[in-house]
Amino acid sequence: MKKIYFDNAATTALDSNVLDVMLPYMTEKFGNPSSIYSYGRESRLAIETARKSVAKILNAHPGEIFFTSGGTESSNTAIAAAINNLGCRHIISSEIEHHATLHSVEHLHSRDNIRLSNVNLLSNGHVDMEHLRELLAGSKERCLVTLMHANNEIGNLLDMHAVGNLCKEFDAIFHSDTVQTVGHYPFDLRNTPVHFINGSAHKFHGPKGVGILYINENVKITPFIHGGSQERNMRAGTENVYGIVGFAKALEMATAHYEEHSAYINDLRMYMAEQLQQHIPGIGFNGDLHGRSLYTVLNVSFPKTEKSEMLLFNLDINGICASGGSACTSGADAGSHVIRAINSDPNRIAVRFSFSKDNTKEEIDTVVAKLKELI
Ligand SMILES: Cc1ncc(COP(=O)(O)O)c(C=O)c1O
Repeated sequence: MKKIYFDNAATTALDSNVLDVMLPYMTEKFGNPSSIYSYGRESRLAIETARKSVAKILNAHPGEIFFTSGGTESSNTAIAAAINNLGCRHIISSEIEHHATLHSVEHLHSRDNIRLSNVNLLSNGHVDMEHLRELLAGSKERCLVTLMHANNEIGNLLDMHAVGNLCKEFDAIFHSDTVQTVGHYPFDLRNTPVHFINGSAHKFHGPKGVGILYINENVKITPFIHGGSQERNMRAGTENVYGIVGFAKALEMATAHYEEHSAYINDLRMYMAEQLQQHIPGIGFNGDLHGRSLYTVLNVSFPKTEKSEMLLFNLDINGICASGGSACTSGADAGSHVIRAINSDPNRIAVRFSFSKDNTKEEIDTVVAKLKELI
């Protein structure tokens, strides 16, 4: 059976062009980048070339880009640094963050007695900016605001400039989890009021286990992982050279094809939304589908019935990959914390379909026909 993969917000397929540039660093170019002889220098050059390319694309300085093991490590590093190095004693976040953020802030809240506030969400899942202003204005302590750029389950996009400017007004530190948007949108970090963002290659056809942390040059922090002097003393451990090379190549390709791919993927998403509305009674959409929304994600709300409760399982049996929440929780029974936070109706079932350049309208027709049959 040919599988249909509609879970590209969980991860994407590695592009063969990306694999091609990675392979030599797994085979003949195996030197440790810290070694001073030619093998080492060759690996070092590959890392620094990748850093320059990533920085150029994001309009940042190469010195502001640090390679990590992925989005989770980058968020953990930024959030811990805001508390440990930048004097933040109050974290303002939201209930719909990825667990990399949620569990980091809960840990700091319970271990270090750091104040934690969740900003209110509007019914469409967007951040209530008035409430954010009230929280910042009412805080006696320096705040860390950590709010994601695009929600990985419902796709809502944050106005990063509006939040960043508000943070500036109150001298707060701003971290935005941009794992779903780096490699999917252009960035202009030199003109964006944010202190930390992150990125993860496997979300845009790069390899798993490699990411970046952008640290604005105006903030100085200490490392999260201690050891050797890699990444200019900021992230110890022998570098994932082939991963870093793959990250840069995947970002270069995503950037080169941004206009074409984003329009194509958005078209697929809207086509599926239309087809579902035509063919399946009682469905709805979670998030702000027709407003500020990530073009890769369609979160569909089905009326709860015995059949819809088994939907993900039955889709899987039919070779269709979709998910009920973020990939890290889809095996668990608890349901999605994001859907619970924005829409507590116990009589609905949420399924996330997320698309890439490799999907087609024919696949959507097949999935809609199958859903008709299963519901
Ligand atoms: C919004 C968001 N943040 C963070 C992560 C974690 O990234 P990584 O898998 O690279 O640790 C993910 C991916 O699952 C994500 O979607």
